Amino acid sequence: MSNQSIRPLSRKLDKIALSTTTVLNERAMAMRRDGHEVYNFAVGEPDFSTPDHIKEAGISAIRQNITKYTPAVGTMDLKEAICEKLARDNGLEYSPAQIATTSGGKHALYNVLFVLCDEGDEVIVPAPYWVSYPEMVKLVGAEPVIIETDADTSFKITPDQLRSAITSKTKALMLNTPSNPTGMVYTRDELEVIAKIALDTGIYVISDELYEKILYDGLTHDSIAAVHPQMIKQTIIVNGLSKAYAMTGWRLGYAAGPQSVIDLVVKFQGQTVMHPSAITQFAGITALNGSEDFIPPMVEAFKHRRDYILDRFADMSGVTCIKPGGAFYVFPDLSSYIGYYTPGGDRIEGSLDLAMYLLDSFHVVSVPGIAFGSEGCIRLSYATSMDIIKQGLDCIEEGLASLK
Ligand SMILES: Cc1ncc(COP(=O)(O)O)c(C=O)c1O
Repeated sequence: MSNQSIRPLSRKLDKIALSTTTVLNERAMAMRRDGHEVYNFAVGEPDFSTPDHIKEAGISAIRQNITKYTPAVGTMDLKEAICEKLARDNGLEYSPAQIATTSGGKHALYNVLFVLCDEGDEVIVPAPYWVSYPEMVKLVGAEPVIIETDADTSFKITPDQLRSAITSKTKALMLNTPSNPTGMVYTRDELEVIAKIALDTGIYVISDELYEKILYDGLTHDSIAAVHPQMIKQTIIVNGLSKAYAMTGWRLGYAAGPQSVIDLVVKFQGQTVMHPSAITQFAGITALNGSEDFIPPMVEAFKHRRDYILDRFADMSGVTCIKPGGAFYVFPDLSSYIGYYTPGGDRIEGSLDLAMYLLDSFHVVSVPGIAFGSEGCIRLSYATSMDIIKQGLDCIEEGLASLK
């Protein structure tokens, strides 16, 4: 037997955090296996099924043997359908060569960051952010520069904050509207100001628009690429079919951007994972070109749940919660409970302790604000049934009232 030790693994992931949501979900699953009722508010996907006509398209793709390789960033038919969508919904003119389809929006975000950033570049990430942004920025060798926001500015960055975060190393700003986790929606006026700063400084905006169709109270979605004629040259739109079409497991996303950026994504994908499944691409064309009649009832159901949750929080002492305009999350501020003690005598030091307490004592799964770079809040997803929401909120109310 040789004494030679086996070579070490790469250290590239040493600084990358494990997903908090995954850890919490695993703990919740173990509780469920032990026979407990679990109130899961950590879900990041619509609790609706993919509409039948899209499912049928997927089945028909298999029957027609649409099961072979496609071009590296997707079929021409799919890219054309995406261009039509961008013109129809966002008022933007793209050619198919400016589109790269990917295995989900997450994949598009990573690939775009990969082709934009060199070692040492900076990417501005407003907090609260979607959990994966800073980790992806680090994975491509760049530095996330976090801008903290709070409820006073509705969790939106101010022009001054943005201006003072930009340095000669800044490559891009990550912008997410409607936002996960806060549900905040940037207005056209606010986007115009951000666009002006991007144009003055030459930075790119990576505009994550995954939740664009989940909006309430008459709010509308604007893409930052569309708010100024020059902005299309400095924006990379990332979108996908996961949320609007309830297609999370199909894995279909895309990036739309300047030709120079998309050419590099084509090069990168061609040597790595290639394209999303041919079957998914075929179903995606049906989704994009087909009826969207199923979206308003889904949004109406989400709105009903959002309103119920907001009413319940309004009656709980020590909780403030701003009204989300989109997506399917609420981000209540529970910071007044930090420093309190649980009935078991444990001190609540922050949002992670709060989430763990709610999970261990009441089987409520939430995601601590700290996972989104914002202490004191927790994120609850209401992509779950009204029954779970009602019972889960009873538990949260009892849990908070038991803290001393
Ligand atoms: C803000 C945001 N961006 C991107 C994604 C990625 O979605 P997908 O990879 O399923 O398209 C998600 C998923 O939760 C998200 O919340």
